[in-house]
Amino acid sequence: MIVHVLPDPDAVGSLAARLIEAELLDIAAPVLGVATGSTPEPVYAHLTRRRERGTFRTDRLRAFALDEYVGLAAGHAESYRSVLERGFAAPLGVPAERLHVPSWEADDPAAASDAYEREILLAGGIDLQVLGIGRNGHIGFNEPGSDFRSLTRVVPLTESTRAANARFFEEPADVPTLSISQGLATIMRARAIALIATGADKADAIRAALTGPVDTGMPASILQRHPRLRVFLDGAAASRLDLTLLATFAVVHDWREAAR
Ligand code: PGA
Repeated sequence: MIVHVLPDPDAVGSLAARLIEAELLDIAAPVLGVATGSTPEPVYAHLTRRRERGTFRTDRLRAFALDEYVGLAAGHAESYRSVLERGFAAPLGVPAERLHVPSWEADDPAAASDAYEREILLAGGIDLQVLGIGRNGHIGFNEPGSDFRSLTRVVPLTESTRAANARFFEEPADVPTLSISQGLATIMRARAIALIATGADKADAIRAALTGPVDTGMPASILQRHPRLRVFLDGAAASRLDLTLLATFAVVHDWREAAR
């Protein structure tokens, strides 16, 4: 595990974008796993700048979403397909057919989940997965208690996750109750993972995920077992980490150390 602690979300986005570019540079048709939520926004903004400068190429990039709500009308502004089209695919010049999002429109979300898992395999697997983390330690919509062996499947959303996402909907009751999410085993199959967290409200989850026991009660803790995990944190998200403990098994680059 390599952990970068940076001064603010923009610095997190800048370094993560630089290292994502480097990771994908030698791959002819790279497959990037993309997360929704507020956290990756600066990463996508910096990737967009790097594309405009001509260093980051997306002409053969394929992107796979982590998850999608079940039950929103096609084209709903808060569906993750719409969110990723606006915030990722359009600025980065990735056409709709190269942006893959679980689609439940066939009215059979379980079959759609299996089909999505196959789509990822047929694409050759994910080269690099971008991940955020929930305050309860979820990754994708893999809530506490999710099986570490889980594949893409239909997942009910917990009340805490629905409450956290209510800010995007007119009424809290409008937040869907079901999702399709890549499973924890699906995520762990990615060849590299970039976990991103910013803000003090993620500090407890980050501490438990990176330095606590690997336990299904903290889904993100499984990432400790990934051979190529890179973590990007701002000072607030890193504020509850025991860096001395972390440094016994991880490489830590902390801007506060460098500034001393
Ligand atoms: P956020 O969501 O980036 O909007 O905080 C992250 C998550 O819940 O996975």
